[in-house]
Amino acid sequence: MSFPKNFLWGGATAANQIEGAYDVDGKGLSVTDIMTAGNLDHPRMLTYKLDDKMQKTPSVPGAGLPKGAVGAIDPNEYYPNHVAIDFYHHYKEDIKMFAEMGFKTFRLSIAWTRIFPNGDDKKPNQKGLDFYRRVFEECKKYDIEPLVTISHYEDPLHLSEKYNDWQDRGMIDCYVRYATTLFKEYKGLVKYWLTFNEINTAVMFLDMFGSNGTDEEYQHAYQKLHYQFVASARSVKAAHEIDPNYVIGNMICGIVDYPLTPDPKDILLNFHSWEKNIFYCGDVQCKGKYPTFAKRLWDEHNVHLDITDQDKQDLLEGKVDMYTFSYYMSNVVTIHEVKDKVGGNFAAGAKNPYLKYSEWGWATDPDGLQYYLELMYDRYDIPMMVVENGLGAVDEISEDGKIHDDYRIDYLRMHIKAMERAINDGVDLIGYTTWGCIDLVSAGTGQMSKRYGFIYVDRDDNGKGTLERMPKDSFYWYKKVIESNGKDLD
Ligand code: BG6
Repeated sequence: MSFPKNFLWGGATAANQIEGAYDVDGKGLSVTDIMTAGNLDHPRMLTYKLDDKMQKTPSVPGAGLPKGAVGAIDPNEYYPNHVAIDFYHHYKEDIKMFAEMGFKTFRLSIAWTRIFPNGDDKKPNQKGLDFYRRVFEECKKYDIEPLVTISHYEDPLHLSEKYNDWQDRGMIDCYVRYATTLFKEYKGLVKYWLTFNEINTAVMFLDMFGSNGTDEEYQHAYQKLHYQFVASARSVKAAHEIDPNYVIGNMICGIVDYPLTPDPKDILLNFHSWEKNIFYCGDVQCKGKYPTFAKRLWDEHNVHLDITDQDKQDLLEGKVDMYTFSYYMSNVVTIHEVKDKVGGNFAAGAKNPYLKYSEWGWATDPDGLQYYLELMYDRYDIPMMVVENGLGAVDEISEDGKIHDDYRIDYLRMHIKAMERAINDGVDLIGYTTWGCIDLVSAGTGQMSKRYGFIYVDRDDNGKGTLERMPKDSFYWYKKVIESNGKDLD
């Protein structure tokens, strides 16, 4: 009963949530650079200029900016990602601390706009390429294998405006050129790549809070996904040609749905929500073709997609080598009226009386992780990695100057045990990277106070603080977990 010998223990981050330096060394603007801070009661906003006036609109995935708007920075607003935790200038110190914990892998993403500032520039930005080379070399110094997400929620602003958030085939070529540049540049330094972070959220968010998306929104989401599937598949093919040792994964937002009642209508609703939210993307990326239920999903919303024969061929030839996903919580669906509703992450539904919820309304459900792993391994039969898992919580500095985050340790311990059960049931799980191994800016709310890290970073929701790093209790706990290859969880 144990984790495999070369199990990849580590932590995960995303460029826009840690790097800062948003306009340094030739970097262009990403969509996240025009995103303000928010909190549980107020959504993050996108700021833009239209008719020469500065305006803002709630940042809803897939919704983008109004027609004719040009993303812009408003000097009167606070943008948490502009400095974030300034990993750009602290990467050596941070990677050293990851090494102290014994990390075998470090998941990070590349900011597309550091490499191609506008997304479609003729030549890559040398300073951007050099930065990630330095980061990867630093990882290698400590035998930490980088796990690189090519696109983590930060399209170049210019491309997003030009192609209306992936509504044009032109995006495919831009992405493939960007990905191919990385595969060539970092050959020998990186082995594991993920094409798109949580690709399925494009459709998932349409059902949040009981509000069903319009036909137009579904058309947008499914077309965007199709172009991303093709971009991903063509990149997988290119990667394997450049280096047959490359291992490329997809990345799915793994929210487990349960039916609230045994009413067959609830069971069917639950099954269909798995199909739409989880299987749809996984099937295309792992099996190389659209599942039979896709036609029903499209027909439900009068969706008509631009799909060519070449696309179909590429999907088949560009299947991913591993299935990776984030896992934080489960969700309950029902056709019945419920009093107790709860929403968090990319899901909303009935409150589950058997589970505890975080301050942000996310259910803690380690059994859901075991369920997800076993279900997906059975479906795809390829190696799997849990590339995000963790508890967002407010941390207080105690009188002794330390952070005693037992709640985080409890959460992670339960999920590691769940992974172990899945491994014992035969799942080929090769790695685990906890989310936000160092405190970072929350993607959903833009807060710093929603902390996930083993390492505390002194920065608050208004951008105040020294940016100093400090290990929390969980830092020393995770070190033991890795040292014992998952045996010592106390
Ligand atoms: C995942 C994203 O959805 O959840 C991360 O891939 C994100 O980017 C993480 O940070 C946690 O969500 P949040 O909203 O708490 O930052």
